[in-house]
Amino acid sequence: MVSEDMFAVSQYNQLALSGVGPIKDVKIFDTTLRDGEQAPGIALNPDDKVRIAQALDDLGTDIIEAGFAASSDIERDILKQIGKLGLNARVCSLARCVKKDIDAVIDSDLDYVHTFIATSDLHMKYKLKMTPEEVKAKAVETVEYAREHGLDVMFSCEDATRTRMDFMKDILLAVQDAGAESANIPDTVGVIIPKAYGAMIKELHSALKIPISVHCHNDMGLALANSLAAVENGATIVQGCLNGIGERTGNVALEEVAVNLYANYGVKTYDLSKIASTCALVERITGFSLAANKPIVGYNAFAHESGIHVHGVMANSLTYEPFKPEVVGAKRHIIVGKLSGSHAVEGKLEEMNIKFPQEHMPELMEAVKRMSMTGKIVTDAELEAIAEDIMWKKSVEKRECVLDELTVVTGRTTTPTATVKITRTDGKSVTVAETGVGPVNAAVNAIRKAINPKMTMEEYKLSAITGKSDSMCQVAVTMKNVQNDGEMSFGRAVGTDIVETSVDATMAAINRDFSRVKRKKEC
Ligand code: KIV
Ligand code: ZN
Repeated sequence: MVSEDMFAVSQYNQLALSGVGPIKDVKIFDTTLRDGEQAPGIALNPDDKVRIAQALDDLGTDIIEAGFAASSDIERDILKQIGKLGLNARVCSLARCVKKDIDAVIDSDLDYVHTFIATSDLHMKYKLKMTPEEVKAKAVETVEYAREHGLDVMFSCEDATRTRMDFMKDILLAVQDAGAESANIPDTVGVIIPKAYGAMIKELHSALKIPISVHCHNDMGLALANSLAAVENGATIVQGCLNGIGERTGNVALEEVAVNLYANYGVKTYDLSKIASTCALVERITGFSLAANKPIVGYNAFAHESGIHVHGVMANSLTYEPFKPEVVGAKRHIIVGKLSGSHAVEGKLEEMNIKFPQEHMPELMEAVKRMSMTGKIVTDAELEAIAEDIMWKKSVEKRECVLDELTVVTGRTTTPTATVKITRTDGKSVTVAETGVGPVNAAVNAIRKAINPKMTMEEYKLSAITGKSDSMCQVAVTMKNVQNDGEMSFGRAVGTDIVETSVDATMAAINRDFSRVKRKKEC
């Protein structure tokens, strides 16, 4: 349930909107399945389209433009199928201002068409090669034809934001008289600025009786600002796509529109709590990945790494978030990385239910810093392994032998050789070199030779904690002291380097054995 206290937008917003008339109802027109599918690289099959249409309906979409009926027989069948799903949303098809396109919509058994023709001088001259009079006649003829066949009609002036105002008013008044139920004013190439678009919508709103729809492309990064400016000036239908997909740089992202309308204008559209899951579904089905920094639904939208921010968010999440992630059904992520302070690490451990002793925090922070130095994020599994390792080491008796130096030489045409310098229990330092079948084996052989050749490796287990080549590994060894009591000693270590981690685990097992033997002697 969304409540006021889940948001903390700027108090200046309301102040700035005091001159704007009341914005009561805004309808969401979703063209993910039409303009969205026109994005390079996206191709949806019938099942994909049905799943997305159902999810859009569930989200609270008012109108779904499910495709372009005239484009193929398959498209017509998909539209027919979606039209028969019994959705709450109205389902429509796009159509050019040509009879055969309207016929295709009629054949799809739909009762709603979105028809368009270009009205800018640039498009009429170079693309359509038609005069304004011919364009207007075509528009009126198409709207009349669609109406005669029982269709509701939304009419679009393609490239409206580069269309002469007098001609646009002329053609829109004519289609209004012909029975169009709404007029769409697309910023087809994303070329207008909010102030100009707002003024344009205001003028058209006072000239027309029918509702005004807006359709903003994001070529210059202004799609959201333009859509909101249009709403402030009388537009009551906003077109767009989830995740901001669409031609070229896409259409306005409808999840951004819906959250802004609610948070800044008090207008309810979607069931906001379904935004994250619906956008994730669209991401999976279209294969169009969301950038981590995508507003509202990117992974980083509610992720915090730097110490100052994590501290603030833990005290009150609204210090560094405009609204709580639950509003859109998302989760907050505390990231442990290069910039993390102890607050982030402590918060993360708490989240993972790990009771880590405060006195060992400096050591844990040191390990985290070392690991994330290259900019790598420490995953939950890695943090857990480091913390467990520190706690385990602390629980093991005092170290008797210390590894001072380790050098390993290996390669395809070289015999793997390791040199270790170890300070033994008797206080003497020894430097020993040994070969092996691989670098790990050579290092373990060198340690055994330096400390106690009678210690044998009975078991060696290596596991990757996470699945990438720069991730952490865990090594667990079991060693047997055949010289003394033949008992087993266990050693474990985690790290990013397999050889070093194997050596650490071996040293831990050997030191355990020393402690045990010493205790036995003392008894
Ligand atoms: O961007 C555009 O102008 C369109 C129209 C078909 C409405 O997508
Ligand atoms: Zn478009």
